[in-house]
Amino acid sequence: MSKCIVIGVTGGIAAYKACEVVSALRKKGHEIHVIMTKNATEFVSPLTFETLSANRVSVDTFDRNFEYNVQHVSLAHKADVFAIVPCSANVLAKVAHGLADDMLTTTFLACDCQKLLCPAMNTKMLENPITQDNLKICHGYGMEILASGDGFLACGDIGKGRLANVEVIVDAIEMLAAKKPSNHKRILISSGATKEYLDPIRYITNPSSGKTGRQWAKIAYNLGYDVTLVTGETSFEDLPFIKTIKITNAKQMFTEIKACSFEQDIIVMSAAVADFTCNKAENKIKKDGEALDLHLEPTQDILKYLGENKRPGQILIGYAMETKDLIANAQEKLVKKNCDYIIANTISDENKGFKADDNEVVIISKENVEKLPKMSKENIARCVLEKCEREKRCY
Ligand SMILES: Cc1cc2nc3c(=O)[nH]c(=O)nc-3n(C[C@H](O)[C@H](O)[C@H](O)COP(=O)(O)O)c2cc1C
Repeated sequence: MSKCIVIGVTGGIAAYKACEVVSALRKKGHEIHVIMTKNATEFVSPLTFETLSANRVSVDTFDRNFEYNVQHVSLAHKADVFAIVPCSANVLAKVAHGLADDMLTTTFLACDCQKLLCPAMNTKMLENPITQDNLKICHGYGMEILASGDGFLACGDIGKGRLANVEVIVDAIEMLAAKKPSNHKRILISSGATKEYLDPIRYITNPSSGKTGRQWAKIAYNLGYDVTLVTGETSFEDLPFIKTIKITNAKQMFTEIKACSFEQDIIVMSAAVADFTCNKAENKIKKDGEALDLHLEPTQDILKYLGENKRPGQILIGYAMETKDLIANAQEKLVKKNCDYIIANTISDENKGFKADDNEVVIISKENVEKLPKMSKENIARCVLEKCEREKRCY
């Protein structure tokens, strides 16, 4: 759904990355308004942001051609998110203390929407206790802060202070824009593939990309859940605002899930967990022209464990990937694993399922079999979660 997003741009070298953020958000159909500090215009021209956002950029509060009251107070009312990208040490200090001496800081103070700060600065500026205190103050006022990453800085230093990745900033803005108030429910989601190592450099795995669990985490966050994501290695950046636990193999996934499963209201097992593992050889297994026999042991069945240890009111959702007899196999799994829902899918088409953005699934419960049309993994997660809430299985 289209949201109204205000991007504040301040005078830092990372200002050019705000162009990518504006461009990505506009492509996703959002209404974008950019406000720059005067110093930010030394780094990027307002014309660039005007072109990318298709809206006039404001800089000067006292611009006589600009109807401040009409345009900016109304913007403060209609904004869903105000994100400062990048946020300089200077503007961070101002917003921490309620200063409002230019268009950006004045509008920021007037806004009561979700607020996001994406600090970017030299490591010493960031580590300065004054800056650290300012970050804490802003967090205490309810502003979200996207931690700056490590890396090569424009000033030549290597360390903390780089602007968070554009992809993460865009995710964070969209998640805040769609976020509903907390519903005080906890959801645990497993995602991605596990890796069972044969030796230090070889492993058994599967093509799961982790997209399904990632979309579940985003949707659950938006609907007000307290989300924990236990995930195998993926190629994605970590999702902002989501408690993420990274694992490699099935045993680690079981340990992490078991540790927090009891307190969950909903558990979604969308990870593709290995069914078999082996003893990892200490050194690389050498070829000698002979066949290699692998002895594989079954892994702990996590879904079965969760079904056997389900607390009253808890909802357990499993995934079933089948190559034949989809419905019958999934119905059997539902009963065997004591699940409330099984989301069944096949690998019939490369544009669906593993790695793809879309999937075509059947939701199976004890009462019915509901086939959903092909849709994004995000919409599938939304449909299933809303179905859970409608059927009031956990309330
Ligand atoms: C080339 C250059 C790069 C700068 N990069 C940063 C930066 O990344 N982060 C930061 O906080 N300040 C940076 N500064 C300092 C700010 O531009 C300066 O503090 C300015 O007053 C910030 O203005 P504003 O916060 O009103 O936009 C940089 C200055 C220069 C000249």
